[in-house]
Amino acid sequence: MPSVPPPLPAALPRHVAIIMDGNGRWAQQRRRPRVIGHRAGARAVNRTIDRCLELGIPALTLFAFSSENWGRPQEEVDALMKLFLGALDREVDELHRRGVRVRFIGERERFGAGLVSRMQLAEQRTADNTTLTLSIAASYGGRQDIARAARALAAEVAAGRLLPEQIDESLLGRQVALADLPPPDLFIRTGGDTRISNFLLWQLAYTELWFTEALWPDFDSGQLQEALDAYASRERRFGLTSAQIAALATETPSP
Ligand code: FPP
Repeated sequence: MPSVPPPLPAALPRHVAIIMDGNGRWAQQRRRPRVIGHRAGARAVNRTIDRCLELGIPALTLFAFSSENWGRPQEEVDALMKLFLGALDREVDELHRRGVRVRFIGERERFGAGLVSRMQLAEQRTADNTTLTLSIAASYGGRQDIARAARALAAEVAAGRLLPEQIDESLLGRQVALADLPPPDLFIRTGGDTRISNFLLWQLAYTELWFTEALWPDFDSGQLQEALDAYASRERRFGLTSAQIAALATETPSP
């Protein structure tokens, strides 16, 4: 039987994961270069972090750059790298002051040395913070994540520390990114497309999905509230029946 997390106060998600899509179209609508859309997207990131802190949502994961985004025009990739560097330089002190723990998931070795060292510094500086865990997926792909986890277990088998028959969902699940967090309760994608695009494939197995036509730079607290309201109205059954879920809810004391 899948493990069912205990009920949450007012059905607030413990972990929200977001695909921030639509920056390019937002800029194009204004006849501006795509980078202007990414800059506006960075402001929407700040607003969303602020709102999660206000609401007490303890984990937020943002898809900032996929393993496939390296294929974009070099000019756009360079502009995004500059934006990430600037955001790290500007925001980490403030995030730290507000109790945010910052982490990065993905193939960080593909980034330049300047960005990698700033990522490490941000992680080290904020490692003991507990108010909000902000995970930034950068050069991340869900399949790549699962392949890396499988490779880690294969290495254990090759070293004679693990038997193939000992490999199960729980063991593999401990090797994928964000294994120390509860899996996302709520997934949000802006920009009108209704797909997961190789984001947290393993971790999203039982996540509630919410899509909006709004472009990411326009995402605000009203939009977030709509997503949270939709989430609160859903019945999460984790493969069980409604009656079983109702019985579990009365058995489990609220945290
Ligand atoms: C997708 O929109 C967005 C990205 C590939 C980049 C996301 C980056 C940011 C929101 C900037 C700042 C982020 C951080 C963490 C500081 P798109 O370019 O695919 O838009 P389109 O579908 O309209 O072309």
